[in-house]
Amino acid sequence: MKFFIDTANLDEIRTVAEMGLVDGVTTNPTLLAKEGRGFKQTIKEICAMVDGPVSAEVVSASSAEKMLEEAHTVASWHPNVVVKIPFGPEGVKVIRQLTKEGIRTNVTLMFSLTQAHIAAKAGGTFLSLFVGRVDDMATDGMEAVRDAVDMVHTYSFASEVLVASTRHPLHIVESLRAGAHIATVPFKTLELLYKHPLTDLGLGKFTDDWQKAGLNFD
Ligand code: G3P
Repeated sequence: MKFFIDTANLDEIRTVAEMGLVDGVTTNPTLLAKEGRGFKQTIKEICAMVDGPVSAEVVSASSAEKMLEEAHTVASWHPNVVVKIPFGPEGVKVIRQLTKEGIRTNVTLMFSLTQAHIAAKAGGTFLSLFVGRVDDMATDGMEAVRDAVDMVHTYSFASEVLVASTRHPLHIVESLRAGAHIATVPFKTLELLYKHPLTDLGLGKFTDDWQKAGLNFD
């Protein structure tokens, strides 16, 4: 499963890029607003750091025409830019057009199998299903992910299922079990994936025993 990092923070992206762990980056207007820097500048800097798909979102969700114009703008910034399109009737028109033009899309704000199916039929490259926001409503967000993975395989769609709105390591475990293609993960969650107390305890004991016995490499 590929890992994308879900952030517009350049320090976080630099850190995970150095760890060799990141296959792509997803941003959204909220994440960009938190950083307080320009949209185009931030996306271009991210593209210079990560060799993989970088999602940049359009905002005029009620007008296919305006979204298409915004899509062409962001796609012109770097070949690795993937245009993030909010799901909806207008968005689907834009996805179809961009697919014809060979421009990759990340269809966002999806919560159900039926939405994912429509996005796949339109040719969406990445199908972003939000799990955390569904869990927030005391409902299983992963259900749509499991169903979408089955749907993509059953009907041989080229689209990849991207698990978004991940909030903790269990979301990643469940994404792996579901056979999702990609999980986009916040920096803090990515750090947690390395951690296990038994790893720390085991390492401490190995180090102690090595030192007490006076072992070395000579
Ligand atoms: O990729 C979408 C993601 O950023 C949304 O996450 O935690 O705001 O639901 P969250």
